[in-house]
Formats: sequence, structure tokens, C-alpha cells
Amino acid sequence: MQNYVCRCFFTRNLYVKKYNAHLVYEDDETFREQNAKILQARGCVSDGQVADILFLVRLEVQRRKEMFNESKRRQRVIAQTYVPLHPEIYMLRESQLDAGFLHVVKYCKTEASNARDVIQLLKSEQAERVYSLPIFTKRFCIKFVEEMEHFESSSMPKGRPNTMNNYGVLLNELGFDEGFISPLREHYLNPIAHLLYEDYGGGKLDSHKAFVVKYKEDEDTELGFHYDNAEVTINISLGKEFTDSQLYFGKMRNQVHTNISYTECVHVVSHGILHRGQHMHGALPITSGERYNLIIWMRASSVRNKLCPMCDQQPQLVPTEGWGDGFTEHPSPNREDGNFVQSCSLL
Ligand SMILES: [Fe+2]
Ligand SMILES: [Zn+2]
Repeated sequence: MQNYVCRCFFTRNLYVKKYNAHLVYEDDETFREQNAKILQARGCVSDGQVADILFLVRLEVQRRKEMFNESKRRQRVIAQTYVPLHPEIYMLRESQLDAGFLHVVKYCKTEASNARDVIQLLKSEQAERVYSLPIFTKRFCIKFVEEMEHFESSSMPKGRPNTMNNYGVLLNELGFDEGFISPLREHYLNPIAHLLYEDYGGGKLDSHKAFVVKYKEDEDTELGFHYDNAEVTINISLGKEFTDSQLYFGKMRNQVHTNISYTECVHVVSHGILHRGQHMHGALPITSGERYNLIIWMRASSVRNKLCPMCDQQPQLVPTEGWGDGFTEHPSPNREDGNFVQSCSLL
């Protein structure tokens, strides 16, 4: 099936680490005007400073344009030449999953299941509709981290999870999607999300982006306040030993943040934290040790086809390799197929 990203992927939310800023870029002429507020806030006022940030934004746009083909190329090289340390972990098996997790999933699949009762089986975090539960066995977490380290120390080509993380692994490139992440999403996480987040596409999560992030002193130490390009996210702590680095949550992205107050969640190794993708969150600085997290951004095409969560518009579809950003066939004002647009606009 052909998948898509929204055109805004190339024009909005362009993160420039040096300035810790998310920017908009349509063209050189409008750049200054469109980003006036944030440029001012970051002290970018002189022509030289604006030219510097503009250069970095253009690089980011270029990177995004080449990203899907580059990723496909890396995936091919890895599939042909990488020798895994633990080949058995590339296929999902129930023996890798915590008994408590299996119990929750089993409950969610029963006919009489309901949201109120499943919440009793989870740990409710202080932030609204944020829940945690054990996911993997400890033994699996150790093997998984070992595999990530093995890959990291290999000479394989590496893509990075996103513009905010410089260390980590894209799991589709490493070959985890088909045998591991897809069945985990479809058969285990989606039934839970169906009860917890039906109003956000839970139960209809039909694609994902999965990656591992790593935090360590002298590398990435924290993650700024943001929301995910996902309907539902699970963030699973894999270890190793670390102190601090708690996740914190604010409000949903479209709620007004008057009194900025955060609630923190302590992340227990082998446990996952489930939240709505558009719930604003970040990770506090790690103060010692190393922390690996498996993050799965789960998407529902039926939700995002109507409204892109990154630009709040009807998505303008740009075809991509792989799953893109989880958009599927959808009428868009940009499509040239007039009949298609006309027939769908009757819906
Ligand atoms: Fe996130
Ligand atoms: Zn968009």
C-alpha cells in the first residue's frame, strides 16, 4: 500500500538543536517574518544570526526530503550484512513478555472488558490518562540493550530517531518491524489502547514508528518539552542503571498552558508508560548511568487522514517509502485526480 507524509513535514516543526527552536520554512523571503517571535526569543536579531539559523533550517528540510530513501538504503545494507548478536529477539514471543502485561491484554480482549476495569489493572500516573504497566521480562530487556550496543558498535550505517535525539536506533532499519513491533502493536498494544484511548484512534492503530533512544552524560542527557507525531505512544524503559531522567507531562498541546505545572513519572525498567501522542511531555536530565528506552509512536490512519496532528490541517499528501507518517489514501485539495476529490467530498 502506498503511504504518505503530510507536506508540513517539509515546512513546519523544523527543529534546530543549536537554537533549541522549532521553526517554519516556506521560502527564504518569508522565513524571518514567519518566525519573528521565536527568533526574537532566541536572540536571533542580526542579519548574520538569521542567516545562520536559516542555513540550519534549510539543511533540516533537505535531510527530511532525502530521509525515506536514505532509510530504505540503510535498511537494505543492514539486512544484507549485519550479523545480530541475539537473532532470536527479532521475532516476538510471549516468553519475552511480562506475565502482568499478558494478563492485561487477555482482559482487554474479553467481550465484557471496559475502560474502568482495565485502569484498575494499570498504574495510573498523576498526569491525566497516563498509565504504566510491565511489558517485557527483565531478561529480554538485557538482551535487547545488548543488541542495541552491538549494533551501535558495528560499522553499519545508522539513521537517528528524530531531530531531538542524536543517539539511538531506528528499529525498522534494523529489521524489527515485521516480526516484532507490528505484532506487538496489533495484537497486544492496540487492544489496550482500544479501551484507554478510543477517542484518539485506540483500536485502529494501523502503523507506527519505533525507535530506541539513549540518554547518557556527555551524549543526549534530556529531551525538551514536545508532543509526538502519534495518536498513542508507549515509552518502555529497557535499562540499564540510571538516576533521574524522569518523564514529565504538561497538558494536551492544544490546551492553554497558563500555569505551567508538570507531573513527573518515575520510569521503572521493563515497564512502559502509555500516553496520548499529543500530550506535551519531556525527559528530565539524566544525572548518572545510561538509559535506553523503546518508544513506539502508534498511528491511526482513520484519525490523521482527517486532520494532520502536526499542522492541524487536512493533510496534503506526499508519497513516501515505507509507512511514511501513517497517512493513507485520502482526498486532498492538492491531488490532481479531480474525480477522486469530487467523489470523496460527498462523504
Ligand atoms: Fe515524545
Ligand atoms: Zn500536516
